[in-house]
Amino acid sequence: VLLPPITRCEAVEGRTLWDCVADTDWDNLEFGLVPTDYMYVMKCNRNGTFSEGKLKQFGPVELSPSSGILNYGQGLFEGLKAYRKEDGSILLFRPEENASRMKSGAERMCMPSPTIQQFVDAVKLTVLENQRWVPPVGKGSLYIRPLLMGSGPILGLAPAPDYTFLIFVSPVGNYFKEGLAPINLIVETNFHRATPGGTGGVKTIGNYASVLKAQAIAKEKGYSDVLYLDCVNKKYVEEVSSCNIFIVKDNIISTPEIYGTILPGITRKSIIQVARNQGYQVEERLVSVEELLDADEVFCTGTAVVVSPVGSITYQGKRVEYGNQGVGVVSQELYSALTNLQNGITEDNMGWTVKL
Ligand code: COI
Repeated sequence: VLLPPITRCEAVEGRTLWDCVADTDWDNLEFGLVPTDYMYVMKCNRNGTFSEGKLKQFGPVELSPSSGILNYGQGLFEGLKAYRKEDGSILLFRPEENASRMKSGAERMCMPSPTIQQFVDAVKLTVLENQRWVPPVGKGSLYIRPLLMGSGPILGLAPAPDYTFLIFVSPVGNYFKEGLAPINLIVETNFHRATPGGTGGVKTIGNYASVLKAQAIAKEKGYSDVLYLDCVNKKYVEEVSSCNIFIVKDNIISTPEIYGTILPGITRKSIIQVARNQGYQVEERLVSVEELLDADEVFCTGTAVVVSPVGSITYQGKRVEYGNQGVGVVSQELYSALTNLQNGITEDNMGWTVKL
């Protein structure tokens, strides 16, 4: 099978950006898979060493029916994005943070992991070779999904003998169907996402399968997603199915501290820093559901959701609305500050963006 041509976006006289982006409906991107040209595959041998990876045409992967990932869920994923700048160049946002989170997750899941350098180089290569799929300015971003999986065969419960690191990419638009409008959350009181000592704090695939039921019930009732409480006290806010949460009260920003059951989001960490840079007091601590309901503003953060304002929260049948369902001032300010940085609109004094 012939690989499709790579269309590079180098400055060539007379050429516009539209000559070097893929022919797709850029105006109607959602957060859904758009198949792209290449995926990156790197195998790990039985000594735990990853060999040089290869780009392959994007498509199905072959796995043993008894692979560790299919049978015992031995797998991790990451999520990061590439952004198109006005001049056509491409920026990544903090890819080494994803690399190091995968490394610590792999340790928890008894898997070998690529080095930070291997991870970042693989992401760069995958994005460069799929660059015609990075949306034009203002149309979205390229979502990058690195996977690490126990791909070798195993029957008794044990770590798989072989591992595969894979990266695929897809152009994406807004995560929630509400677009940039505030979302409506319900606080979950029956299901829990994570337990102390469990894997809630790592990006293992099973954490996401386990919230599908609660999410489906919530969506059936018209909510955008579910907010989980800690499973011990059933009182402290943890996170939403796919993102972290922040509250704003009297201009002080608070977010649940990371204590093992909460995913250490890279957008979460970045927003804390951005907010402090803007002069806000930011606290990482236990946040009770009562405080949540009493907040002036609530917003979610994540790679996929970016900064999503929350318009209402329903808890035990009681619905609380924030800022007349409009976007709160602080949420808007932080959204703009972060996305301007990610898109190369404002100067990056933090050294977070990586130019390809
Ligand atoms: C991300 O924000 O990148 C995530 O990994 C969440 C996922 C459920 C889309």
